[in-house]
Amino acid sequence: MEYRGYDSAGIAVLDQGTIHWRKKAGKITNLDAELAARPLPVSGTGIGHSRWATHGGPTDQNAHPHLGGAGRVALVHNGIIENFAALRAELGAQGVVFTSETDTEAAAALLGRELEQGADLAEGMRRVCRRLEGAFTLVAVDAADPGRVVAARRNSPLMVGVGEGENFVASDVSAFIEFTRHAIELGQDQVVDVHVDSIVVTDFEGRPAPTKPFEVTWDLSAAEKAGYDWFMRKEIFEQPQAVADTLLGRYTAEGALQLDELHIGEDELRRIDKIIIVACGSAYYAGLVAKYAIEHWTRVACEVEIASEFRYRDPIIDGSTLVVTISQSGETADTLMAIRHAREQGAKVIAICNTNGATIPRESDAVLYTHAGPEIGVASTKGFLTQVAACYLLGLYLAQVRGTMYDDEIAAVMDELAATPALIQQVLDSLEPIRELAIRLVNKDSVLFLGRHVGYPVALEGALKLKEIAYLHAEGFPAGELKHGPIALVDDGVPVFVVVPPQGRDQLHDKVVSNIQEVRARGAFTVVVAEEGDPEVAAYADVLFGLPKVSTLLQPLLAAVPLQMFACEVATLKGYDVDQPRNLAKSVTVE
Ligand code: AGP
Repeated sequence: MEYRGYDSAGIAVLDQGTIHWRKKAGKITNLDAELAARPLPVSGTGIGHSRWATHGGPTDQNAHPHLGGAGRVALVHNGIIENFAALRAELGAQGVVFTSETDTEAAAALLGRELEQGADLAEGMRRVCRRLEGAFTLVAVDAADPGRVVAARRNSPLMVGVGEGENFVASDVSAFIEFTRHAIELGQDQVVDVHVDSIVVTDFEGRPAPTKPFEVTWDLSAAEKAGYDWFMRKEIFEQPQAVADTLLGRYTAEGALQLDELHIGEDELRRIDKIIIVACGSAYYAGLVAKYAIEHWTRVACEVEIASEFRYRDPIIDGSTLVVTISQSGETADTLMAIRHAREQGAKVIAICNTNGATIPRESDAVLYTHAGPEIGVASTKGFLTQVAACYLLGLYLAQVRGTMYDDEIAAVMDELAATPALIQQVLDSLEPIRELAIRLVNKDSVLFLGRHVGYPVALEGALKLKEIAYLHAEGFPAGELKHGPIALVDDGVPVFVVVPPQGRDQLHDKVVSNIQEVRARGAFTVVVAEEGDPEVAAYADVLFGLPKVSTLLQPLLAAVPLQMFACEVATLKGYDVDQPRNLAKSVTVE
């Protein structure tokens, strides 16, 4: 399970009416060493967890399992409990002392309290699940109830492995595939009560629930990819959930926007007179998207800089400059050096990062975590999309603090953002023709990508995907720039992808349509990504991908998806290693 998260790990077993546990920050090898030094008793009932930190850094204390009920229950958790702050306050007022910063420990304490009040483990779990908001897979054991494991899920995966004289629950089948291929997939809001010889599934109210048994046909390696051929393809399909998780829990009880660990006071944010976004690669392209949104919503000048160029150009920075860094890994050396320079110049730094506790957030004044989960494929996909979503959140938050948008305007954008995971899913469900397009273009030696406004960074991202995994020359341009030189590259059959803005911004939309005509007139093979039903583009598109309707600024969350999948298909057809392309690393920790 290490591929799912590896910043800390832990295990708990039942023996003689007591829970024995060990947990350590860092790789699972650290836990191995701890167990070798301080072995646990032999036991037939236990739970374990490898963590991808969301709330609370990767430390021994924050590692799972977490205990509740004075050590009577142990619990592990995947996901984000949105209302954990209120629950921690409620439990704290009842005298519960927390030993970690995690949302998980609140669930463990709630469960312990239910058992102390007489519920058994399964009923206690159901009562706790009815109190929780957000996304969670929970697994727990009760010291007073040996031979029993109870688990529950909402918006987060949970599987049951049905063995011979043994049973398993896990967030995915790779945990038990070496022991059994007989599995049961649990549905939304279900609790499973497991003994060595029985498996009982109910809903959160205790009513019997339907189950879906299936046979696992994958090998272990495929199981880690949930049956996909590549982690990248799996991560493309994880994007609806990743964006939804990134948007979770961003509201206060009063309905105002709130952001993770944003330790920069509102007065300071009101004094900001310039924003500089600094990042590399796809993260830089997410910053380019952010520029359009942030300037429109906050009316603050927003520059976007390649991190490796930033500090050598002697940038103009002072105490009124807000530097925003974007980094999936949080370890990119170019970006890290840039923020060190910015802080030396007196700027405040906010990190948008997907890796809790990484160096870049640690060296920033504040952090806004994306919740994409581990991104294993070198080519960023869900990392990029969640960075864009997080940039929107930051822009809206700054607009709220600076009063440049009314609350109802912010709420309207947040409502539209909340609807985007379902729209991303619609795009994913419509990608069947991508494979045929990849077959048609696989032998091309160059591909151009055009876009305007926020479509321009999407064009750059589409070109980067093709370069880095299909080793195919590709270039993204602002569509309006074509006539200033690049159009000389257009000849018969040259593939040109064009990202067309939604209708409604005619000035922008019509100009892009003209650009399609310009390249088509010179023989280009045009692949057009546009709003479904756009009547202007069909006549000039050799291939047309329709996107669900969304406002102009939010369209990158949808338009990037067909381009990601196109690159994945071309690289697969070429027989390349999509997840580990040549010459590249997932995190570039050298300048
Ligand atoms: C994107 O597909 C590449 N893997 C690369 O450009 C990446 O975005 C860049 O190296 C930045 O990485 P970071 O987000 O971890 O800082």
